[in-house]
Amino acid sequence: MNTDFLTRFDPLAGTVVGYPVVERRLSQLAGVFADTAVYRQTLAQSDPLIYSVASVTLAEGDGQLHYGVGKIMPGRIGQEYFMTRGHLHEWREAAEIYIGLSGSGLMLLEDEKTGESKVLELGVNTAVYVPAFTAHRTINIGDTPLTYIGIYPARAGHDYGALAEQNFRQVVIAQDGKPVLLDRQTFRLDQS
Ligand SMILES: [Fe+2]
Repeated sequence: MNTDFLTRFDPLAGTVVGYPVVERRLSQLAGVFADTAVYRQTLAQSDPLIYSVASVTLAEGDGQLHYGVGKIMPGRIGQEYFMTRGHLHEWREAAEIYIGLSGSGLMLLEDEKTGESKVLELGVNTAVYVPAFTAHRTINIGDTPLTYIGIYPARAGHDYGALAEQNFRQVVIAQDGKPVLLDRQTFRLDQS
């Protein structure tokens, strides 16, 4: 039996046997969270792990697939939940499928062309289809780590630059213990 294409992942640890885990700590996420004052205050005390990704890249080229196992820790920066930086694919036509493994999360999708936002549930036994030309960010709204798999074309690539200049237009924040989608500008004005 050919086992070259077999990998084993741990759905709770968010790891893949034999593959490195790339960690993203708070200090690496400047400009990502809306409440910059709380971001700075938190960082002055500690530099918590926000999320990690283990990427499996067995084959390259057109028609091939890659996958990643992500893990987002529970927590918030102010009212905003711990989440990924978010990205577009360098090859904009590339779609992606996310499958929830453990925990309770959301995906924030933003159409690059229209600016329209969508929030979809990402949890156990759910799969979220991220269409082409769509920025995507994953958010942990639970009290335990959120883990998931993302499967995408090998040539998709990651483009973080476009979102570094202009963050997602909407924020997902905790209000009365529940996630609420708000316009970023409105949320920022309310805080100042
Ligand atoms: Fe992606």
